[in-house]
Amino acid sequence: MDKKTKEKLVQAALEAQKQAYAPYSKFKVGAAVLAEDGIIYKGANIENAAYPSTICAERSAIVTAISAGNRKVNAIAVVTRNAGSPCGACRQVMREFGGVDLPILIANEAGEIVDETDLSVLLPRSFGPEDLEE
Ligand code: THU
Repeated sequence: MDKKTKEKLVQAALEAQKQAYAPYSKFKVGAAVLAEDGIIYKGANIENAAYPSTICAERSAIVTAISAGNRKVNAIAVVTRNAGSPCGACRQVMREFGGVDLPILIANEAGEIVDETDLSVLLPRSFGPEDLEE
């Protein structure tokens, strides 16, 4: 991924973070994915009074891209105040639509990329669509 694309993805994740609905945890998360159609889709965490009904920012961004007709995302950026790492459920959804090597940018609220990694590191030896093939 070139530098400009990284900057655009992180910028979009920062914009998404502003739309987070996190009255319970106060932990606002923004994510942005570069989909196969070349468009960047944004998502934020959206909490719920029934806590487990919360959706994370990463999954919010991915389902937005998939709902627009994409079947693959080529990169993801995530922004939190402490450059936190994506949760397990989000890693599994990344696996479904990003593949084993999905590039992942983890940034803080200043837009600094603190960790640049990929899904093979965050979710090694994963289960994916190919495992269901006969
Ligand atoms: N959260 C995310 O949006 N992404 C993650 O990968 C970790 C957690 C959200 C869920 C909840 O709204 C808040 O952060 C605290 O867990």
